[in-house]
Amino acid sequence: MKYLADYQEGERVVAFCLVKNKEAGVASNQSEYLNLELGDRSGTLMAKLWDVSAEMKEAIAVKSVVKIDAAVQMYRGKKQLVIQRIRPVSASDEVLMESLIPISPVPVDELWDKLEQKINGLQSGTLKAIIKEALADGEIRERIRQYPAGVRMHHNYYHGLLEHIVSLLTAAERLLPLYPQVDRDVLYATCIMHDIGKLYELSDPVAPDYTTPGQLIGHLVMGVEMVSSICRKLDIPMGDAEVLHLKHCILSHHGEVENGWGSAVSGKTPTAVLFHYLDQIDSKMNALGQTLSDMGEEDEWAYAGVLKRKVWRGY
Ligand SMILES: [Fe+2]
Ligand SMILES: [Fe+2]
Repeated sequence: MKYLADYQEGERVVAFCLVKNKEAGVASNQSEYLNLELGDRSGTLMAKLWDVSAEMKEAIAVKSVVKIDAAVQMYRGKKQLVIQRIRPVSASDEVLMESLIPISPVPVDELWDKLEQKINGLQSGTLKAIIKEALADGEIRERIRQYPAGVRMHHNYYHGLLEHIVSLLTAAERLLPLYPQVDRDVLYATCIMHDIGKLYELSDPVAPDYTTPGQLIGHLVMGVEMVSSICRKLDIPMGDAEVLHLKHCILSHHGEVENGWGSAVSGKTPTAVLFHYLDQIDSKMNALGQTLSDMGEEDEWAYAGVLKRKVWRGY
């Protein structure tokens, strides 16, 4: 299958694309045009649609999927699409999300099975009930199977959050035998629930932005609010020690309050402290892995946003 990045100057592109941005303008002959940023899993290209009708301008919405017939031209040294025909997709087009946006390399059902195994293996009835209740909510279940773990930094692709959760559970399982002072079930429950607020902090799984609640409250507090409302529903007392511990681990998972990364409280148990480092390892390793795999064959150094410095590919 050919993607946007594969097309060269002079070629004709007939493809499904995601509309990432749209800007209307008026040409010197008074006809209206659209500047579009179109993307698929390979990247994005700017596109020009001349003589656009008012209806078409409406129909081509940001974050929607369109089918285009276009020519690749060079404009100021960059490839640009000049669109001859364009239409919004319909259900019968059966567009695969995998072809439009980057997606986790691990199949979603495989990740889901591992998550369920871990939940069923929890010994704490309270924590198991809270997590099962969260996942019994159809909207939450659907979002966990789709959402990225972030807009930019790490696991920033379709069902990246689920990959992050399962990766943390795996890392936690390996480290637990070394640290008997850690509460196993609270650690596992934190792996699953720590970023659950991201399902509402981010707008959607395809081209996510931060929502207003996400910006005003943030996913740590949003996650704790979700846990509280589940406890109320299940008649679990707010003073339950495991619930308090889980909430503490969620609220402290970005590290010390002083570091400014958004923790509401600094970690005050071995479980909370260990979880913060696990989350750091998993997010940074994922981001660095992506930085290295995005490097050109000749490149020896690349800037890694997650570390705010260049990293070396080496030998
Ligand atoms: Fe987080
Ligand atoms: Fe995380």
